[in-house]
Amino acid sequence: MDDGIKPSLPQSSFSSEEKPPEKKEQEAAPKAEPSPSQKEKGKIAVGFEQFQLSPEVQRALKEMGFVTPTDIQREAIPAVFKGFDVLGQAKTGTGKTAVFGIYLTDVIDRRLNHPQALVLAPTRELAMQIAREISTISKYTGLRVATVYGGQSIEPQIRQLRQGVHVVVATPGRVLDHLERGTLNLSHVCRVVIDEADRMLDMGFIDDVRRILGHTMKGRQTMLFSATMPEEILKLSKQYQYEPMYISVSRDEPAVITHIAHQFIMVSPKTKYDALFLYLEEKQPHHTIIFCRTKSSSDKLGFVMKKKEFRASAFHGDLSQNRRDSVMKMFREGSINILVATDLAARGLDVLEVSHVINYDPPDDPIMYVHRVGRTGRIGRGGTAVSLIAYGEMGLLGQIERHCKITMEEVKLTGYVAVREDDYQTFGSRSGNRPQQQHQHYGQRGGGSRRGGFGNYRQGGGGRPRR
Ligand code: CDP
Ligand code: MG
Repeated sequence: MDDGIKPSLPQSSFSSEEKPPEKKEQEAAPKAEPSPSQKEKGKIAVGFEQFQLSPEVQRALKEMGFVTPTDIQREAIPAVFKGFDVLGQAKTGTGKTAVFGIYLTDVIDRRLNHPQALVLAPTRELAMQIAREISTISKYTGLRVATVYGGQSIEPQIRQLRQGVHVVVATPGRVLDHLERGTLNLSHVCRVVIDEADRMLDMGFIDDVRRILGHTMKGRQTMLFSATMPEEILKLSKQYQYEPMYISVSRDEPAVITHIAHQFIMVSPKTKYDALFLYLEEKQPHHTIIFCRTKSSSDKLGFVMKKKEFRASAFHGDLSQNRRDSVMKMFREGSINILVATDLAARGLDVLEVSHVINYDPPDDPIMYVHRVGRTGRIGRGGTAVSLIAYGEMGLLGQIERHCKITMEEVKLTGYVAVREDDYQTFGSRSGNRPQQQHQHYGQRGGGSRRGGFGNYRQGGGGRPRR
């Protein structure tokens, strides 16, 4: 699938004189008084000074160690300050959060006592993380940020909202709950951010998002961010944005980060555990997220790993929110270093220490590969993504390679055999359908042959696989 540029949308190369399009109903986007530094003109700077942010924001960014803006920050921050509706597409871990975090902090009128901005995210953990980052950026400004999400008592949220907040960061379900109870008023919300926008506008969320947007100001500024923007989502986004500016800093490249190692290990159903445990023992990775297809397989693998004395814990949507919170806290703080997760952890999570992503079950589609592996290699750091691939999944591997324009290298593990004697039953030896014949898939990925065989599927290069 193509995440690439959509020529019909205006691009980000606008001049400093350029104005955002007049909105149809121009009642929106009141701005706070510009800070003295915003009034200064003509500064040429490479750091965050170039945006002429308030001294309070600049001070916070300095403390956060933000020195040079990333590409998406350099392009998107001026655009959002000019009031454009923006579609911001940039690779995972490139600081998209700070684009809107800085903007909202600087522009919101803190003298008013009602929500003026809403940020929507697909998972509770991501909503919390975004709220934390905005709170850190706004540390010296007195901006009040509320996090609104399900799975925890609604009463404290109601109390907080009653006290008056400026920015609400939320998951959609709980926002609707508050709207129905009349405990959240979005009628002054003139700036909306939809993070992980392609996920938020897909079938799972779109009805909720549409209803929520209906409660915000007409003529609002709507900002969409994601590492992936499939074409159908770009088309759909036009319903919610007004002449959006499409800012894609990796427009001619696939969205996947290429500065990490992309690897795979051949497995059969019976050797998946062997492959995983051998890999972990051999490589001793730092912080690792292991992705499983289902909640039950995440539970099962988490359980087995604990028994084997790995510092691991399952993380998925069937756990209580308290449990999810404590697992995430342990992972961030390092008391566990392996998260055995479903795709709940695939989008948005920013844990800089994550050195490895392991696809215990491969993702269903290449877009999910982009997001999963994007949990490592944050903000230009190194990282490794390893996928356990069964013979029947070689087609999927090929799809991922083509979509992401990457080549996955096969990992050789000492003493590891991908297909064991008893797998022959699984493959159906009576029909003669042994793994050798399954290797036709290998060729289909368009690149297997150049690796000269099946790696450690057969040790010693001949005969039947040994146990
Ligand atoms: O949303 P996206 O995947 O693009 O990345 P993020 O979740 O905003 O994470 C970016 C990470 O880089 C965070 O840990 C930021 O604190 C950090 N960072 C940044 O955003 N901008 C900089 N100029 C420097 C660091
Ligand atoms: Mg993000």
